Amino acid sequence: MAVVSSRLVFLSAICILIAPAIVRPQHDPNFFCSDKQGNYGSGSTYKANLNLVLSPLSSNSNEIDNGFYNSSYGEDPDKVYAIGQCRGDLKPDVCRKCLSFSKDNLPTIQFCPVQKEAIVFYEECMLRYSSRNIFSTMDDTPEYPWMSKLYNISDYSDDEKAEFNKDLSNLLQNLRGRAVAGGSLRKFAVANASAPRSQTLYGLMQCTPNLSEQDCSRCLSGAIDNFLKSYADRLGGRIRRPSCNFRYENSSFFDPAAYAPPSPPPGNLI
Ligand SMILES: *[C@@H]1O[C@H](CO)[C@@H](O)[C@H](O)[C@H]1NC(C)=O
Ligand SMILES: *[C@@H]1O[C@H](CO)[C@@H](O)[C@H](O)[C@H]1NC(C)=O
Repeated sequence: MAVVSSRLVFLSAICILIAPAIVRPQHDPNFFCSDKQGNYGSGSTYKANLNLVLSPLSSNSNEIDNGFYNSSYGEDPDKVYAIGQCRGDLKPDVCRKCLSFSKDNLPTIQFCPVQKEAIVFYEECMLRYSSRNIFSTMDDTPEYPWMSKLYNISDYSDDEKAEFNKDLSNLLQNLRGRAVAGGSLRKFAVANASAPRSQTLYGLMQCTPNLSEQDCSRCLSGAIDNFLKSYADRLGGRIRRPSCNFRYENSSFFDPAAYAPPSPPPGNLI
C-alpha cells in the first residue's frame, strides 16, 4: 500500500513537472482541406516533398525568422509550397511550438490526410501548404470570423453605439495602415483606442509579409468590411484569412512589448 501510494505521489509529481512543458495551442483550430489541387497518395513524391518542406518546423528550428516561415521543395507537379506564420507578438519559442504542433497535425487523419492544399489556424499560428505557388498570391478565402459573443453593446444608447462603431472603425483602419507599411519582413501592428463607457479596445492586425502592400491592404480592407457589415456591435471579434488576420477585444490580449517597434537590424545603428 505504501509502495502504491508513493508511486502515485511520484507519478503525480512527474505529471505536475511535465504539464507546463506541454504547450498546446489554445482553442479549437479552424482548418480547411481543399481538393482543388487534387489529392496525394501515401507513397507519393508529393507526400515525401511535403514531409521535407515541413521538417524544419520542429520545436528547435532556427528557420522561423520574425515569426514567418516560407519554403518550397521539389519539382512540378510534385512541388510543395508551405507558409507558416505566428501572431506577431509571440516569443520565438511559443511560435516554434505552435508551428511544430501544426506540422504534426495538419497532414493527418484528424485534419487533411490526402489533400494537396490545406490550412490550419490556431490562436498562436497559421500553417498552410499547396502544390500551387502560394508565395505570390493573396488568398482571402477560406475566411473564419469569430465573435466574442458574450460581449456586445446592445444595451448602449444610439449615441454610444455610433461612437463605439466610429472608434472601432478608426482603430481598425489605423491598424491596417500600419500593418501594410510594415515592410517585407513583417506586416504587423497593435494598437489601443478609447471607446464609450471608459472602455479601451485593443487590436492586432497582420498580413503574411510576402504580400505586396497593395495585396496586404486589399486583404485587410475586405476582412474589415466583412466584419463591420456582418458583425458590428461587438466588444470583441476576429477574422482569419490565409493572407491576413485581425483581432480586437475590450481587454488586453497581446504582449504589451509589441507596442514598441522592433529594433533595427544589427549594423544599421549609427
Ligand atoms: C496604448 O498604446 C500606447 C502605444 O500607442 C501604449 O504606450 C499604452 O501603454 C497603451 N495603453 C494601454 C492601456 O495598453
Ligand atoms: C520568404 O519570405 C521572405 C520574406 O518575405 C522573402 O524575402 C523570401 O524571398 C521568401 N522566400 C521564398 C522562397 O519565397
